[in-house]
Amino acid sequence: MSMPITELSTTALREHLAAELTRARARSAVLTDAVEDSELVRQHSRIMSPLVWDFAHIGNQEELWLVRDVGGREPLRADIDHLYDAFRHPRPQRPALPLLDPTQTRRYLGEVRSKVLDVLDRTPLAGRKLVEHGFAFGMIVQHEQQHDETMLATHQLRVGPAALHAPALQPARSSDLPAEALVPEGEFTMGTSTEPWALDNERPAHRACTSAYWLDTTPVTNRAYQAFLADGGYDNPRWWSERGWKHRCEAGLVAPQFWYRDGESWWRSRFGIIEPVPPDEPVVHVSFFEAQAYAAWAGKRLPTEVEWEKAARFDPATGRSRRFPWGDDNPTPAHANLGQRHLQPAVAGSYPAGASPLGVHQLIGDVWEWTSSLFSGYPGFAPFPYREYSEVFFGGDYRMLRGGSFGTDATVCRGTFRNWDHPVRRQIFVGFRCARDADPGRPHRRKPSWTEH
Ligand code: AVJ
Ligand code: FE
Repeated sequence: MSMPITELSTTALREHLAAELTRARARSAVLTDAVEDSELVRQHSRIMSPLVWDFAHIGNQEELWLVRDVGGREPLRADIDHLYDAFRHPRPQRPALPLLDPTQTRRYLGEVRSKVLDVLDRTPLAGRKLVEHGFAFGMIVQHEQQHDETMLATHQLRVGPAALHAPALQPARSSDLPAEALVPEGEFTMGTSTEPWALDNERPAHRACTSAYWLDTTPVTNRAYQAFLADGGYDNPRWWSERGWKHRCEAGLVAPQFWYRDGESWWRSRFGIIEPVPPDEPVVHVSFFEAQAYAAWAGKRLPTEVEWEKAARFDPATGRSRRFPWGDDNPTPAHANLGQRHLQPAVAGSYPAGASPLGVHQLIGDVWEWTSSLFSGYPGFAPFPYREYSEVFFGGDYRMLRGGSFGTDATVCRGTFRNWDHPVRRQIFVGFRCARDADPGRPHRRKPSWTEH
């Protein structure tokens, strides 16, 4: 889709929405058809839902918003709403619930979808904020895609022979990238008031300001991270925040999740394949605490969320903020590694066409990037269409993640998109890049503190 959603005719918008719903469902089908039913109902990790829960929850959200609310139709299965309400039952309890089995789940999703396509044909896409530019449909597409990434993380935690397959990436390193780019001090526009499918926490557009800072041109690679390991980084409390060190000790962290040591070399498991850790790929599966410790060891720090978005969107030539580092066009495979096309990050420097005007690469795709910021609403924030998407998480124990990963679909990934997670989490496809103040007066290599943001 090359034309902006806001410029589509009603007919073209309906066709686009139907195509997006279908495309999201095709990916959910791949993720759930890949394993036996017995593996869909099993809990592969206590921090994840059984895959069949995510799958039915996708259908239930679609029923709630598109069949009942937008369509004004009778409920199909009001009796199961409580089972798939994420706030009613925490993840460890979900396997014990009387969930729909995989066959019932597939039938339920099919029934919901055929009603939704009928609603899409008949409902005016105007006159109500919820449906303007197809927002509610776009929200449900993005909801499904977010759960597709969650299901992909469950696949990564699953033990057993490989069930998912994707073409390997061609190493395409552009070798002579400078290590850091300088972002000038000053204001820029953060967030959006015009992106039609932006979620509530990305809104509204507002002015934000930074000092000048250096930002790594690529995410931190496995090679660089291994130097931190080899230097005893996991054994030296000097680099860790107090809380981070406590967690490192209690959880017994010695390396990124899914890494294994064999003598002098590191191996990793990736979707059921055991392979040497590739040195030039961005490091993935590290917690906020590990990212923070690495940055301190490197004499740097994590960027704030404001700094991340400025590097991703600010165009110094015009002073405008754009949708993506490369401009306003939707991502193509030349710009970024998104959409589960490959089941790994691409080596650093792989996407020169996706770089920002200041020369920052791979801000979009490959790995989510930890920032030092906590979650709160932008000035003028208004919950829409429900408080439980964002607002109930404001002020909680979360750090903001930006940029999307190889597991994120392009439709749910933009320069303004905000994700968040607990600082100890690392089953998600998350890495980081470092920043440092351009002001040379700042002390070097200092211990990070929890409150820094
Ligand atoms: C924004 C990715 C943190 O998966 O918990 C899914 C998205 N919200 N269903 C999550 C979400 C409701 C959310 N994250
Ligand atoms: Fe959900």
